[in-house]
Amino acid sequence: MTPQELRQKLDENRAVVLDALAKAKTAEELAQLKNSLVGKTSAISELRSVVGDMEKEQRPEAGQILNEAYEDVSGLYDNRLKELIAEQNLNQQKDEVQDLSAVISATKSFSQSIKAGRLHPITQMQWRLEDVFCAMGYTVVEGPEVESEWNNFGALNFPLGHPARDMYDTFYVDHGEPQSTLLRTHTSPVQVRTMLSQPPPIYVVAPGRCYRQDTADSTHMPVFHQIEGLVVDKGIQFGDLAGTIDKFIKAIFGNEFKTRLRPSYFPFTEPSAEFDIFVPETETNNKNAGKWIEMGGCGMVHPNVFEACGINPSEYTGFAFGFGIDRLAMMEFGIDDLREFWNGDIRFLRQF
Ligand code: DAH
Repeated sequence: MTPQELRQKLDENRAVVLDALAKAKTAEELAQLKNSLVGKTSAISELRSVVGDMEKEQRPEAGQILNEAYEDVSGLYDNRLKELIAEQNLNQQKDEVQDLSAVISATKSFSQSIKAGRLHPITQMQWRLEDVFCAMGYTVVEGPEVESEWNNFGALNFPLGHPARDMYDTFYVDHGEPQSTLLRTHTSPVQVRTMLSQPPPIYVVAPGRCYRQDTADSTHMPVFHQIEGLVVDKGIQFGDLAGTIDKFIKAIFGNEFKTRLRPSYFPFTEPSAEFDIFVPETETNNKNAGKWIEMGGCGMVHPNVFEACGINPSEYTGFAFGFGIDRLAMMEFGIDDLREFWNGDIRFLRQF
């Protein structure tokens, strides 16, 4: 056989291969043909054996022709295989697509027939505060509403008989020793629980219900919500407290709101302060526009509190703050009477 004849045979083979590739309808079918098209039983393999019978000087050329033909045919085979696999994947995806239109329309008519519920405005406010603090790296923690006297007062540096206890109008619970169990009067006992249960660094906020004996009126309720903040770390200073308060107020209400601290007294912080926020004049819907309003208390954690909670006050410092959520929600939603939050009137609640 001459190289020309070889070339011709290979051209014929190419046409046969192309035809077989086109006829194969699946990757499996094609794979079964692999041997006969490009493998041991293929025409190319058979033709390799004739090279030995050729004139010596024709052999290199024949070898090259065979190699090129092999590259060509195996390229055609691979491409067709890829094509078939892609086709199969596409078909599979199409088969797996589900027609959900019936489900969607059923869901729509279901939610139209029942009125969707919504979060209570106080919950909305609480969640917003939690979001802001979480974004600042804090964790949300919780404590029980029925507390021990020690967590609510003792560990927070209110000695027995201390006059500051009287300010809290405590509801005591008839459990154990007289006055040993109470409805927490503030969220500050969660500070104690947190310090007792985890080592510093601590960056937490604790929202929740609190109780004090109070007659319900437009600005007071015997049950109300607070959020407590506690930071314990090395090198925490008063400036960190002031900066944190300013940052979260701006994050909640906007950059035009200002904050200030005034000296105050709490047994569990030293120094202690009260913090106010300034509602800008541009907040025309807010009846406090242009005024400073009192928000809550704060200060540097008292060393006695650290000691009661097993934290070394010469190693760690920290700050704490606490304020009411209800009043913020009133301000945010333009509500004048705190009692509205509690009367459960669906027409009122639906507005928020
Ligand atoms: N627990 C205080 C209250 O209910 C508020 C408060 C003041 C909380 C100062 C704090 C703080 O954490 O540092 O009146």
